[in-house]
Amino acid sequence: MEQTEKKIILSGIQPTGIFTLGNYIGAVRNWVNLQEDYRCLYMVANMHAITVRQEPAKLRQQTLSCFALIMACGVDPQKAPIFIQSHVHEHAELSWVLSCYTQFGELSRMTQFKDKSAKNASNINAGLFTYPSLMAADILLYQADLVPVGADQQQHLELSRDIANRFNGLYSPTFTVPEGYIPKAGARVMSLADPERKMSKSDPNPNGVISILDSADDIIRKFKRAVTDSDCCISFEHGSAGVKNLLTIYTVMTGKRMEEAEKEFAGQGYGSFKEAVGVAVAEALAPVREKHAALMNDKSYLEQCYTDGAKFASHLARKTLEKVYRKVGFVNTPRF
Ligand code: TYM
Repeated sequence: MEQTEKKIILSGIQPTGIFTLGNYIGAVRNWVNLQEDYRCLYMVANMHAITVRQEPAKLRQQTLSCFALIMACGVDPQKAPIFIQSHVHEHAELSWVLSCYTQFGELSRMTQFKDKSAKNASNINAGLFTYPSLMAADILLYQADLVPVGADQQQHLELSRDIANRFNGLYSPTFTVPEGYIPKAGARVMSLADPERKMSKSDPNPNGVISILDSADDIIRKFKRAVTDSDCCISFEHGSAGVKNLLTIYTVMTGKRMEEAEKEFAGQGYGSFKEAVGVAVAEALAPVREKHAALMNDKSYLEQCYTDGAKFASHLARKTLEKVYRKVGFVNTPRF
């Protein structure tokens, strides 16, 4: 029987705090679903994290916790190697080369750069500006075909495609031009406190954000307080932004279809609707919390997983980097 090559997937998450229900629904949940049918590689993007000032001890702890959380959500490192970005030095090296093929104007247009520099006015560093070149390096090093991300990363992904096309055009085909894999439902999970804004790890209002490790009580309490409206219209088409967000979360977390969910809540008040969404989320996340706690108690296993992940990733990354160095005219790197 003819064997078709599986497509390659690469994605990453920053360890800048415990990840949120938005990260889970928009990205990590799909990483789990894709691991059976693709050659997947997942990464804790700790180099991206230092574009905003971090406390070193906390960053170290959060990096391990984030690694464990990816596994706790269901990524199996035997099927989909997981690694820590800084362990594979080719990311920094390719990022430098790619930054020489990325225009100032392109980077200036990135909405995330504009948002983050507005929020961190006292630390608008060069890394924050060239962040998309590092993200392009993350993806292009592995010749990824698909990149599962939430909607907020689409612009960075487009730039990665532009950089790949530019480089391929200037030299000869070197990089696979990646496609985004953005989920139809849940690509942009909104804050529970302000449904016009994205749910984000850095939100100062904890009531708007569900952290994956929140207790069941906290999850249910936050959903009960979720902002909706005064219409009491539990419909995806006609409901307010808050209602749409809650219905989306409910369907994704329970696997129910939207019409099924709307029927289930028809004629009910917002109180019972919000509580039901909270209970569904708390139930779905309970095993993740337990697994995360067990993994964090087994540091040697985690170390073995991230070491294996880095070994696997380095091997692929080196091949691409050598190709790039040759193409741009660098003298062969001596072996010593
Ligand atoms: P990060 O750490 O901000 O987010 C990780 C993933 O979660 C998605 N996401 C959301 N999805 C739906 N609703 C939300 N409210 C929400 N908030 C976040 C993000 O879109 C992302 O997919 N630059 C990336 C990390 C990265 C990366 C990469 C991703 C570094 N290198 C290479 C893909 C490929 C980031 O900051 O994600």
